[in-house]
Amino acid sequence: MIRIDRKVLDIEKVLQMGMTFRWHKNEDSWEGVIGRNAFRLQQVDEGIKYSLLNLTEKNNDALIEQQLRQFFDLDRDYKISNDDKNMLEAIATYDGIRQLQLDPVETLFSFICSSNNHISRISSMMVYLGRKGPLLVCGPVDLHQFPDIKTLAALTEKELREAQFGYRAKYIVKTAQMILENGGDAWVEELQNQDYDVAVEKLMTLSGIGRKVADCIVLYGLNKRQAIPLDVHLIRIANRDYGLREAEKGLTPARYNSIVARLRETWGEDSGYVQTVLFFKELQLAKAKKGVGKRKPKKETTDVKLEQESLPKRGRQCAKKSPEEKKLKTEGRRRKFLKMALRHRTDSIAKYEEALSEVMDKIALSYEDLNAIKEKVKGDVKAKLEKDQSGVGRMLNSYVAKIPNGSEKGEYIVLDFGGRFFRVVYVRLNQANSADADFSVAPKGSGTKLGNDEAVFMESKIYPLRKNQTKGSEELFKLIAKSCADFCSRFRLEENPIDIVLVNSFPCRHESINKATLIRWNKGLHPSDGIGLDVSELLQNAISDAGLPHKVVAIVNDTVACLFTGVSEEVNTKLGLIIGTGFNLSFLRTEEQTQAVNAEMGSFGDDGELDEYLTSFDKDIVNAGYMPNPGKQVIEKLVSGTYLPEIFRIMVKHFVDEGLMFNGVSSDQIDRVGGIPGSFLPQIIRAGTQGLNHVQDVLINIDLCGMYADAEACLSIAKMLTHRAAGLVAACLAGIIEVSNYSKHSINICVDGSFYKSHPLLASSIQEMTQELLDGHEHHIGHKIQVTFRTSYDGSAKGAAFLAAANVAANQ
Ligand code: GLC
Repeated sequence: MIRIDRKVLDIEKVLQMGMTFRWHKNEDSWEGVIGRNAFRLQQVDEGIKYSLLNLTEKNNDALIEQQLRQFFDLDRDYKISNDDKNMLEAIATYDGIRQLQLDPVETLFSFICSSNNHISRISSMMVYLGRKGPLLVCGPVDLHQFPDIKTLAALTEKELREAQFGYRAKYIVKTAQMILENGGDAWVEELQNQDYDVAVEKLMTLSGIGRKVADCIVLYGLNKRQAIPLDVHLIRIANRDYGLREAEKGLTPARYNSIVARLRETWGEDSGYVQTVLFFKELQLAKAKKGVGKRKPKKETTDVKLEQESLPKRGRQCAKKSPEEKKLKTEGRRRKFLKMALRHRTDSIAKYEEALSEVMDKIALSYEDLNAIKEKVKGDVKAKLEKDQSGVGRMLNSYVAKIPNGSEKGEYIVLDFGGRFFRVVYVRLNQANSADADFSVAPKGSGTKLGNDEAVFMESKIYPLRKNQTKGSEELFKLIAKSCADFCSRFRLEENPIDIVLVNSFPCRHESINKATLIRWNKGLHPSDGIGLDVSELLQNAISDAGLPHKVVAIVNDTVACLFTGVSEEVNTKLGLIIGTGFNLSFLRTEEQTQAVNAEMGSFGDDGELDEYLTSFDKDIVNAGYMPNPGKQVIEKLVSGTYLPEIFRIMVKHFVDEGLMFNGVSSDQIDRVGGIPGSFLPQIIRAGTQGLNHVQDVLINIDLCGMYADAEACLSIAKMLTHRAAGLVAACLAGIIEVSNYSKHSINICVDGSFYKSHPLLASSIQEMTQELLDGHEHHIGHKIQVTFRTSYDGSAKGAAFLAAANVAANQ
């Protein structure tokens, strides 16, 4: 027996917190291997009772005890600085933790396995590798000495992949072979005698070992006590508790070093031990959070308490309802959101449950999360609206002086400059055909008459943008003018001047309704110049060069045009929403003011507002260099049709590579950037309503052949991503509506965009959640706001034409 206080060593904590991975619990004792010995340990009040399971003559008690003391690092008093209250508190609260001193070779391989992995899966991988070593004890669970490098180097990648090691298989085999070439086990052991820097540097020459993994190995396997492995938990701690503001991923080596240096300065000589304690604390906090918020919705008392605490203002200001009533309503809403967020997780994906659950839990935004995001949106909208427009990239004034009422007259050519294509539209409002224009040449059925008394006539043609051929902005506008000229000659519109309205889908800073400079390209269009240039001038020059007599009279963002399409049909329309290749919102600022704001909402999150909700997959897509605007347009990338299939793709790819889905067999489309078409998510979700056979059929289109469980897992991912997208859109809509203080009790939102229109679930989820979020606002304003969503089938051109008719006439 080793006499020791549980406050100094708590084996329950240290053996399962992620330092070592081959110990298992057998009733009230723990069994595992240290070096060549297999142990059974039991913690009792007086200390640790131990017994050796593989008795050999060579072992004697003193040596055995010494081996255990060294393993648990019991002969050391940790030297920690007394200045850091946070750390001292953690050490006092989470007592019994030691910085284990583990076998160097085993530690090296366990931390290669730890990349993108969780403790129970690392454990099963390590048990698998362990079985390759000499058998020490036969039992319900056999105990093996960890294999030597030679044995590990003889493994094949294929075998390890089949054993579910995923991409780590090749690292393990390659690293074992490299070490063998360097001298085998002795090479690893020799690292113990090297300085910290040298050991880290040498380890990083091996396959699958980056800086963080190297730091774990030197800390636990080579006794380098100053090592601080900076994983996401540690960076979160550094940000939250030590005021460092760092991204959780993608640190440069210099940033890594400087954070470690700053933490080391605070924590002292035994920084490694301090990080172990804080890491443990973080695991406990995460467990508690999961238990309260998401995983165990049945713990209602705690949940309700938290909910109440997070909504103090609402509680105080609601005079009409009793606390009990409010509590019930809040709880009801919370339950409903939780149910909505989690309803797509079904039992039959149990096989993937563990691997998926962490990321799924993060994707499932709760009512509280969405409410918090809504509040952030409100703060952002208010701040940006108050700012001088020259510096802001959101809440852009469109300089609309007059709201059309639907009776305006006029004849326009609208150039609708979307992301993927470009549309030329002729729109005639409330007046007879001009003498020259000839729409008899249009094929039968086109030139739809729309609106009251068939007063709106439209004809349009789509032209490709041929992205790669547009080298500079001048060429791009030339191409647009050429398409416009083609359209005009088709319908005899080239003789008499007609006003042109440009609908763009890029953020522009306006000086007036027909003067705007480009802030940013987007949607895969990337001419070499254009930013800061006057868009109407570029277009006007190109139109004149094409020999057309027409004049550019207005420039309008597509969401603002969508808003006015709505206004022309339903006077209570206050917002325009587009979810297509991009995502954006527009709104009328208040009832009295006519200001129409292009919110450029797609860039919300660019200042870190959504960081805490992002999974590593999201971050990869947000930052991907092969996507438009790397690191920018954060919320757009979580919501719109260009990006969601890509997030889906890299998630599925990850699970396939891990060997968890589709038997580890991937497909070209899953492996290729942009391999999943935009129509895929709507398709798979629609198929899901018909049965898993249909989902399998959709997956076959991207060459994935799987079982029902694979189909169901894919369906769940697709639904969760959809549900989150809907929640985020709802939070933005509700935030803007609340800030805008509309006095009307019922308002309309006009919606356009291919993703919204084709998706079987998105529209209803957005509508439901927006209303839910707004109902919480009811207490503040004393009345309910009822929102109605209208899908725009006439597109942006109609609204753009009405807008020009009202405003250009107003200017004349
Ligand atoms: C992008 C553009 C924005 C546009 C939206 C929808 O977010 O920046 O201007 O409204 O896509 O097309």
